Amino acid sequence: MESIKVIAPGELWVETLPTPQPAAGEVRVKVSYAGICGSDLHIYHGSHPFVKYPRIIGHEFAGVIDAVGEGVSTDKIGQRVSVDPVVSCGHCYPCSIGRSNICHHLQVVGVHREGGFSEFCCVPEQLAYAVAENIDAQSAAMVEPFSIAANMLNRTGASARDVALVYGAGPIGLTVVQVLKGVYGVKQLIVVDRLDSRLQGALENGADKVINNSEVDLVSWLQEQQIAPTLVIDAACHPSIFAQATEIAAPAGRIGLMGFPAETSSVVQRFLNAKELTVFASRLNNKLFPTVIDWMASGKIQPHRLISHCFDFHAIQQALNLFETNPMACCKVLLRFSEE
Ligand code: NAI
Ligand code: MN
Ligand code: ZN
Repeated sequence: MESIKVIAPGELWVETLPTPQPAAGEVRVKVSYAGICGSDLHIYHGSHPFVKYPRIIGHEFAGVIDAVGEGVSTDKIGQRVSVDPVVSCGHCYPCSIGRSNICHHLQVVGVHREGGFSEFCCVPEQLAYAVAENIDAQSAAMVEPFSIAANMLNRTGASARDVALVYGAGPIGLTVVQVLKGVYGVKQLIVVDRLDSRLQGALENGADKVINNSEVDLVSWLQEQQIAPTLVIDAACHPSIFAQATEIAAPAGRIGLMGFPAETSSVVQRFLNAKELTVFASRLNNKLFPTVIDWMASGKIQPHRLISHCFDFHAIQQALNLFETNPMACCKVLLRFSEE
């Protein structure tokens, strides 16, 4: 099989490797499509905190089960699946209270284990979720990015009473936008970004109002409009945003943080306490693939609106280059490994 492997920071090749055999309890997935994520670039450039090299990357992927290991029913062969990359131990403290996505021994497929930028990938059988007939192969590869939004909003909760404000209209911000509108039906949805092209994408995905905060002072604008968001989601993840979120949130508001900046955020505690704000952090997803698959099958979310490009996987360098250097021209970039 051919796989995309990062040998060391800055060294990425398409390599021919023996096709792996599924171990006991595993299935082998013949990959159809896989999505490129910012974290794949971090692994490539050596700025990912957890990865060990060499590594076959890719954690957003789908395909068809073509072999099973010992103890797995052969009925699964031929099943169309999307793979949850979150591997947990099942018995540590977070696992024992149903928070397995932050397992003490967390392993992420494509980071700690060989990933899905490969013609074949073996994963524990319970992580390969069957996708409904009406979900096409490209959409199936989009379940993972939507699971990130699903987890964030599962943490904060959202409802038709919410005035929501989302910072960042990149791929992650736009999955949040789609879920806030299509699933939770929030009353009003404002999206803030510094790039007009990205804000255009937010409007196309369900935002009611967009603000370019490199041109407009957001705090003053909200005051003038007498808008106090009840739910603020930071999907842009600059450390200044957390502080501003506490300033603009309504009393009893919730703030959802999605990013991993290492810099200090200067939050004024008075805003938190005076308004009794609740801050939620979110990482990966906690067994939400079935939820996202249901949303897709019932048309509540539209994965194709986020897919801007698709390349044959041999063109990985071209795909990475586009993704990295031209964020204004692309959203989710997919790699094709096989036709279903
Ligand atoms: P991206 O870089 O494509 O999008 C970020 C957007 O935020 C861009 O459009 C940018 O113009 C905008 N932005 C940056 N600074 C801003 C500011 N100060 N004000 C307003 N807008 C600003 O990134 P992507 O792929 O959408 O991911 C977003 C974040 O989500 C990343 O920080 C990533 O680490 C995080 N993430 C978190 C996950 C989790 O499990 N919690 C999983 C995946 C991504
Ligand atoms: Mn990702
Ligand atoms: Zn655990």
